[in-house]
Amino acid sequence: MFPRGFAWGAATAAYQIEGGWQADGKGPSIWDTFCHEEGRVFQEQDGDVACNSYELWEKDLECIRQLGLTHYRLSLSWARLLPDGTTRHLNQKGVQYYNKVIDDLLACDVSPMVTLYHFDLPQALQDQGGWKSAGVATIFDSYAKFCFQTFGDRVKLWITINEPSVCAKLGHEDGVHAPGLKEQGTAAYLVGHNMLRAHAMAWHSYNSLFRPKQKGAVSLAINSDWLEPLHPGCEEDDAATGRDLAFTLGWFAWPLFVTGDYPEIMRSAIDSQSEKLGYTGSSRLPRFSKDEPAILGTADFFALNYYTSRKVKAGGGRGQMCMKSDRDAEEVLDPSWYICGVSWLAVVPGGLRKLLKYIKDTFNNPAVYITENGFSQVGPVQIEDVQRCKLFKDTFLEVAKAIGEDGVDVRGYFAWSLLDNFEWADGFSVRFGLFHVDFSDAELRRTVYRSGREYGEIIIKHKRATDVQRLKIYTTLINKQRLHSCFV
Ligand code: GAL
Repeated sequence: MFPRGFAWGAATAAYQIEGGWQADGKGPSIWDTFCHEEGRVFQEQDGDVACNSYELWEKDLECIRQLGLTHYRLSLSWARLLPDGTTRHLNQKGVQYYNKVIDDLLACDVSPMVTLYHFDLPQALQDQGGWKSAGVATIFDSYAKFCFQTFGDRVKLWITINEPSVCAKLGHEDGVHAPGLKEQGTAAYLVGHNMLRAHAMAWHSYNSLFRPKQKGAVSLAINSDWLEPLHPGCEEDDAATGRDLAFTLGWFAWPLFVTGDYPEIMRSAIDSQSEKLGYTGSSRLPRFSKDEPAILGTADFFALNYYTSRKVKAGGGRGQMCMKSDRDAEEVLDPSWYICGVSWLAVVPGGLRKLLKYIKDTFNNPAVYITENGFSQVGPVQIEDVQRCKLFKDTFLEVAKAIGEDGVDVRGYFAWSLLDNFEWADGFSVRFGLFHVDFSDAELRRTVYRSGREYGEIIIKHKRATDVQRLKIYTTLINKQRLHSCFV
């Protein structure tokens, strides 16, 4: 059952919606550079304008109000605030923009959750080695302190870094995200490591300098699929699933919540692959220094981005120096799963429940915010997106069961995304919005999808419900397995 005070939210990210890539003194980010290179993004599209939220913020606010969201998750563009990434040079116009966004949200009784980093490193920092350079962690810490100092009187929920594993792997091993590097087998681990160091420094800064007065909470958003063995009970598949989970969820969750270090299973898989390939250097998975701020305990809540699930079998290691070989596990889709828009998005709401339970059991029952979850459309636009309505409701049902039956401490849910937006390498071809954005219209008109409308109805009915009604809602929900009717 969704508790009183549950956060009903939607999420966006700066590069995906803001546009204004050169407006008012903003510096370039790695996504500006990446998109302007040929052949990187679907049909050479870019986020130069995107939803133009830099100029049309008030339209976004109308959308937020229309849904009745209690929370809105946005990210700050680092290069809009600090054009060269450092606090040496501050862009006052950028500060004004985010001050307005935050103040407007609060005036409408919407709590902001603010992400400091959602994939868009200032290009000036990339030019000095980006996330591969050890020094980036202290520069990030200065940026974080600047943001806590500037906005922390009003922002109480912070995410330092969004999906470090995606930045690390897609950006530095596969080369399909900015900065487009394909340095297999080493760079992703180094990037992930520096992101964890950066996160921990920022958390410690918040904890000692800002928390006493500002009383907020800080975490890191971890993305993970739910993974389970293709043939449960088959030893190889079970082992492969354990490895795969360690490389997916464990890579970042273990250091934060369990040991302050990477899962042992991950390190031994990498090291044994190195040995097989005759790699003689030190472990490709870096080690944390005792002289730096500790990583363990630097998440005030568990921030989870969940989209999909996979079945896992042994294999996939092809004797190469790359992450896929290191994890030596092959992921497959269950043919019964519905594929939603993009090929990777098999919809498995039950997987979310299982993952939440796993998080509760493995990481000592943390408070959890589902910081992203959503469903996409491709092809002809369907404003009456009946199918997506069902997917949201099926998902809410599973979250309610996780809370009510499994006792997981889920505090909120953020749908990805408020608006159709620039979906990274897929450009504008993939739509995740609760609102349709007409990218061919000069005004970039926003129109609510049916799924957005129904999400809004659920939120409003839930907000109005008393505790007795809430219990009734929950009982009906479990009995009828249907969410929407439960709110009537
Ligand atoms: C996440 C990412 C979002 C969004 C979403 C849908 O990995 O954080 O920015 O693109 O996937 O693909």
